[in-house]
Amino acid sequence: MAAPAPLIDTDEDPSFADLLAQRPHLAVHAHDGLTMEDVPLARIAREVGTPAWVYSAGTLRRRFRALRAALEEARLPCDIHFAVKANPNLAVLRTLAAEGAGADIVSEGELRLALAAGIDPAHVVFSGVGKTMDELRFAIGRGVGQINAESAEEVAMISAAATALGRTVDVALRVNPDVDARTHAKITTGRSENKFGVAIADASALYARMSATPGLRPVGVAVHIGSQITAGMAAYATAYRHLADLVRELRAAGLPVERVDCGGGLGIPYRHEPAPSPAALAGAIRTTLGNLGVRLMMEPGRWICGPAGVLLASVVIEKRTATRRFVILDAAMNDLVRPAMYEAWHGIVPVAPAAFAAATSPCDVVGPVCETGDTFARNRGLPDLEPGSLVAFLDAGAYGAAMSSTYNARPLAAEVLVDGARFAVVRARQTQEALLAGQRLPDWMG
Ligand code: LLP
Repeated sequence: MAAPAPLIDTDEDPSFADLLAQRPHLAVHAHDGLTMEDVPLARIAREVGTPAWVYSAGTLRRRFRALRAALEEARLPCDIHFAVKANPNLAVLRTLAAEGAGADIVSEGELRLALAAGIDPAHVVFSGVGKTMDELRFAIGRGVGQINAESAEEVAMISAAATALGRTVDVALRVNPDVDARTHAKITTGRSENKFGVAIADASALYARMSATPGLRPVGVAVHIGSQITAGMAAYATAYRHLADLVRELRAAGLPVERVDCGGGLGIPYRHEPAPSPAALAGAIRTTLGNLGVRLMMEPGRWICGPAGVLLASVVIEKRTATRRFVILDAAMNDLVRPAMYEAWHGIVPVAPAAFAAATSPCDVVGPVCETGDTFARNRGLPDLEPGSLVAFLDAGAYGAAMSSTYNARPLAAEVLVDGARFAVVRARQTQEALLAGQRLPDWMG
């Protein structure tokens, strides 16, 4: 007798209905098709064109508040610094700033964006392994609240930059706890072979030296072990336990520690991964760092903005070969690189109402870029799609537009913010002229 079929076949893609059920800002209406909040996505496509990134302001607020509520419920006073790299759109940043978010930044450009969004420089943390002297000077000059130092070499640079400006800057030491966050190798950051942070074993000596270094004030320790963490709280808890031990060791040596930055990394369910909740993360923080009497900070990106965005694209053509059905879109790997770069799975749903009910058949969803890697999905079930039909890539609000490029001389797509029944273009589609604007021929070419 054949073995009984498993109740949940984890290899089967979730249905369109299942995908939407998990994403309350998206719904299908009999007449309007797929809507975000109260705006039909087809209307945005008509007025703005495709490809276009579309973000739900309501979802950004709802998720930011849910995270804050989970921390409050665990009685953890914690400053939330949104990781700007996940979505540097100014309107997105302004939406989160209005909720009380600070910013985690990694470049002068991100600092400028955070300030332009109205975030108080005192609520900005400057992270990253390769901050340049110019960037350090700029950030210290603007009064950033904290710099996370990642090496002894960088501590010297921060000191030089601050003393040249006659300033003293608050510095936290980012440690590398050598734990495996069990995520994609390209976004794991807390192993000893990764470039990030200072080995725990070296941290206390460096921290002691920092307190005798001019221009900086050591205020605490920081950790970030990776991104899209869905494998439970074990890696977080281990990293935080190492951090708590370090804090106790530093204090025993008479060194003050006021702040602990818990990093980001909380994953989201793109397909049907287990979804770690903010409450679980708050619990892990509470049991490991909760009694240290420090000011807690965190740097989430994806968890807040990932589910809030879609990438809207049109079908250029369907191409059938002897063995495959290709759905060729006007969006490509230059827009959404995550599938090509991390083998990431994104839900792809049709926008037209009739398409939801129609029978599906397997297809490869691809872009027009001249690389086989320009493949968004293989063997994905989609209905027949006429040229011009719209599809939406789900969970494209984090590391979507942020990572796009102009490869194949394709202009950067427009970005749109939806808020209730309103929507606005919050970044214009790059023009063909702008794409060429910086290029010059040397004089010797006449
Ligand atoms: N803090 C630091 C120091 C980071 O390096 C990062 C992300 C974050 C916070 C925010 O992590 P999140 O909460 O968003 O996971 N492009 C990749 C993700 C790269 C993450 C880089 N660092 C992707 O598309 O999956």
